[in-house]
Amino acid sequence: MSELIEPQNNEKKDKIESKKAKKHRETPQKLVKFREMSAQAAAGASPERIKAQKDKGKLTARERISYLADEGSFQEIGAFIESRCTDFGIKDKHIKGDGVITGFARINGRKAAIFSQDFTQLGGSLGLAHARKIANLMDLALKAGCPVIGILDSGGARIQEGVDSLDGYGEIFYRNIKASGVIPQLSIIVGPCAGGAVYSPALTDFVFMVKGISNMFVTGPAVVKAATGENIDAETLGGAKAHSSKSGVCHFVANSEQDCYRQVRELLSFLPSNSAEKAPAFASSDPVERKIPLLERLCEIDPKKPYRIHHIIWWLADDHRFLEVHGEFAKNVVVGFIRLGGEVVGVVANNPAHMAGALDIDSSDKAARFIRFLNNFNIPILTLVDVPGYWPGTAQEHGGIIRHGAKLLYAYAEATVPKVSLILRKAYGGAYIAMNSKYMGSDMNFALPSAEIAVMGPMGAVEILYSKQIKDAKPEEQAQIKAKLAQEYSDKFASPYQTASTGSIDEVIEPSEARQKLIEAFRFLKDKKVQPHSNKKGNIPL
Ligand code: HXC
Repeated sequence: MSELIEPQNNEKKDKIESKKAKKHRETPQKLVKFREMSAQAAAGASPERIKAQKDKGKLTARERISYLADEGSFQEIGAFIESRCTDFGIKDKHIKGDGVITGFARINGRKAAIFSQDFTQLGGSLGLAHARKIANLMDLALKAGCPVIGILDSGGARIQEGVDSLDGYGEIFYRNIKASGVIPQLSIIVGPCAGGAVYSPALTDFVFMVKGISNMFVTGPAVVKAATGENIDAETLGGAKAHSSKSGVCHFVANSEQDCYRQVRELLSFLPSNSAEKAPAFASSDPVERKIPLLERLCEIDPKKPYRIHHIIWWLADDHRFLEVHGEFAKNVVVGFIRLGGEVVGVVANNPAHMAGALDIDSSDKAARFIRFLNNFNIPILTLVDVPGYWPGTAQEHGGIIRHGAKLLYAYAEATVPKVSLILRKAYGGAYIAMNSKYMGSDMNFALPSAEIAVMGPMGAVEILYSKQIKDAKPEEQAQIKAKLAQEYSDKFASPYQTASTGSIDEVIEPSEARQKLIEAFRFLKDKKVQPHSNKKGNIPL
């Protein structure tokens, strides 16, 4: 319009010009309002509440995202969303964002979706709007094909919102299951996580906890006391130690929040963004043909001598780098990620340093779950075998070792990714079959000269096969007879050659060349294609 006004004289013209310039300089009201609202939404809670959060040794929801995401990469969505609930005086407590920050970012340069619950706002409690923000983010992550990472610090279902908040959890659980095996899902517990709320993390692939600040339980200490009379504090009942070493709910424990976000970033560096992609490979300067003299020692030492399997994994891996998963739980089996010749490989290994490496309920569950993750995300599996059998006893039998052990068989057999085994020492009985044996669908099986593959250990076999002969001998001669018979049994069965002669082992290999053999095997199998089992909806024995 101003262009249409004819200047009547110079003074008037100047006035109009200066008015125009002023108008340009002034921020439009709409922009002012927008900026005020954005600042309000970003400001978070009062200084007192933030201080209370810090006093508990916790970071704020936004600080957490800044440690996790690449600098400056976080793009928030849903910052203005508010609860519509007006009951129990909650109307006065409405806050922008409804107690959770959602958005997308880059982590190690790759895209990721992140939500971070804000305990300083209504205790991070989950109302319907809060839940819908998380659900929307999960939908977006599925569409974009990227991991979703939840940072949880919440008093649970928002009491004032009644069944709406319970249904909100339902919406999240539903999406956890829909996204399972399609995009990696990670849960970081950095505060309370109680009641049914624990089931969202439990449905995700990896759970992280921080010593001293994380709690997870279905019923907290007060309910435990009321129902059973037991006095127990929150940390002992559901802290990082309990869930990493006893229940197996938690896969990674950190000493501090900062350490936790570093661990999350490291884990993500091994994972593909979704199930249609391969895990990111990195060129390594570690020579493929690097020798492993340590493995020759297995041919020298007493077969009963325990050793930590980690040493062998470190020696095999590119740059000796091994990211162990579930390190505190069921230590008789060790699982985690390495790179071999630059490519990501998942390792499943018996650990003779713990329970002689025997399989039991917890280790079967641990290995089976990890194998299923690897298979979902196109990560080849390396199995290192040194297993004397299943752990005996009433606790195991009545606890369901048959049911749990079956999961391991199922997980290996259904996996269609490349599968390579190396038998280091013992591979006895049913445990031999379970640990990715040839006829359970393994692609390539190697054994060291130190391998002993048999139905059972020599002493056990002799006591069954020759019990009468041993009983009939003079007591002072029995030990000598047993030792002689055990040696004969050992010479025949407790070596890799009988098995290699039947084709159950593809090759007995020079120990020091194991790294090169494994890398070449995985390279050969890289583009492996198999038809999935015709019964796609199999029924894993849960
Ligand atoms: C609404 C909540 C809340 C909740 C905490 N707050 N939990 N508001 N709904 N579930 C609010 C508090 O009223 C308080 O608000 C603020 O958050 C901080 O809480 P505090 O109690 O002062 O903090 P703290 O002493 O650190 O104790 C944290 C806590 C405790 C242990 C989490 O708040 C608590 O026990 N909350 C209730 C936990 C619970 O029972 N949740 C329901 C679980 S059952 P003001 O304004 O007063 O500061 C569940 C079912 C899920 O979640 C089912 C899914 C299928």
